[in-house]
Amino acid sequence: MRVLVLGGGGREHAIGWRLKKDFPQGEFFFTPGNGGTERIGVNIVSNPENAYEIASICAELKIDFIFVGPENPLAGGVVDILEKEGRICFGPNQKASKLEASKAFAKKVMERAKIPTADFKIYTKEDFVEGKISPEKLKTPIVIKASGLCAGKGVFVCKEKKDIQNAFERIFVKREFGDEGNEIVIEDFLEGREISYFALCSRNEFVSLGFARDYKRLLDGDAGPNTGGMGSYTPVEYADEKLKKDIETKIVKPLMNELEKEGIKYTGILYVGLMIDDKGNPYVLEFNVRLGDPETQVLMPCIDGNFFDAAINAAEGKLVNIPIKNSALCVVISAKGYPEKYQKGMQIKIEGEEEGENFVIFHAGTRRENGKLISSGGRILGVVGLGKNKDEARKSAYEKIKDINIPDSHYRRDIGL
Ligand code: AMP
Ligand code: GLY
Repeated sequence: MRVLVLGGGGREHAIGWRLKKDFPQGEFFFTPGNGGTERIGVNIVSNPENAYEIASICAELKIDFIFVGPENPLAGGVVDILEKEGRICFGPNQKASKLEASKAFAKKVMERAKIPTADFKIYTKEDFVEGKISPEKLKTPIVIKASGLCAGKGVFVCKEKKDIQNAFERIFVKREFGDEGNEIVIEDFLEGREISYFALCSRNEFVSLGFARDYKRLLDGDAGPNTGGMGSYTPVEYADEKLKKDIETKIVKPLMNELEKEGIKYTGILYVGLMIDDKGNPYVLEFNVRLGDPETQVLMPCIDGNFFDAAINAAEGKLVNIPIKNSALCVVISAKGYPEKYQKGMQIKIEGEEEGENFVIFHAGTRRENGKLISSGGRILGVVGLGKNKDEARKSAYEKIKDINIPDSHYRRDIGL
């Protein structure tokens, strides 16, 4: 069987690593892949957002099964196109992907399904032009979100009046997000602890994949700008059986029922970003229709079962339970300057193995050139420590980091503390 993993980040290296472990006889391809996936299979140059290009690559390589990593191809309908051509795809179709591609759509679905989330209002750029909504009319704290796909940069948590001004300026005046900012969601500010919950879904049925915690800010102590994620760990100490049950009965089940009612079939990963209030009640911050990055880097090593079987069965309409064991903690090494302007082309030196009993290194922005490993992106490597518990995993990750040398790079020292 020939398998294609779509994407080229740390998440896709971790997915490919796991699929290969669980299905060693498979032939693996990645597009575009990175310096790590090249060791598992063949990297194919492409634009993963061009669904027709992906379809023609799949035809050429006679791909049987496609696992889609990132959200953009999903929102672009890559699964719809590939399935029409008779290929088995793990990932939601275009209609279902709107849960991530349109925050306004997701909020309306949550409202209809009575799913706990922050109170909200939806406005359009016309409302702004006509003065139906303006910064003066809003009170802080408040959260303003561009509705479309903005690579995590379209959310403004406004603590002061000037933050509201800035959000409107960037979304509607400078149009930094283009048409993805034509609609906005304005919602109440929620306080509490954040957590990510993952489910594996097949035609609106689901099984849990567990919880992970993500560190979005660049610097220690949750300071600095938001990034794609600077670290993660699983399991999460404040996620108990009761919270899991609450999330499943109050959020995931009602969501799947609502989608079913609306004629939308959901297959793939559902990632729920949540705020847990001081009484332990979960509220949805966002839905994502894919695995998280760097959450995947900790989930994949902790799966105590066959993830390849689970994914391909889900794609074909059958759910398989996925037990999780032990603990993993990921520290991301990024280029200095990331998430703003950063340098590429630094040489990466890793002393010793990239995988051992208690660690595994996943590549993100890397490529190989004349036998050398070179940085090619903002987030370069994810160093994952493994252990029986978080402390062991943390120790292993920071121990392995000592073996890595990348000039002008940065990582957080406080992941898991
Ligand atoms: P989102 O992409 O919608 O999950 O938002 C990105 C980040 O903004 C979240 O991880 C939270 O840290 C923060 N955030 C989003 N919505 C809210 C809210 N209603 N209240 C407080 N913080 C929020
Ligand atoms: N780590 C956050 C995300 O993947 O959206």
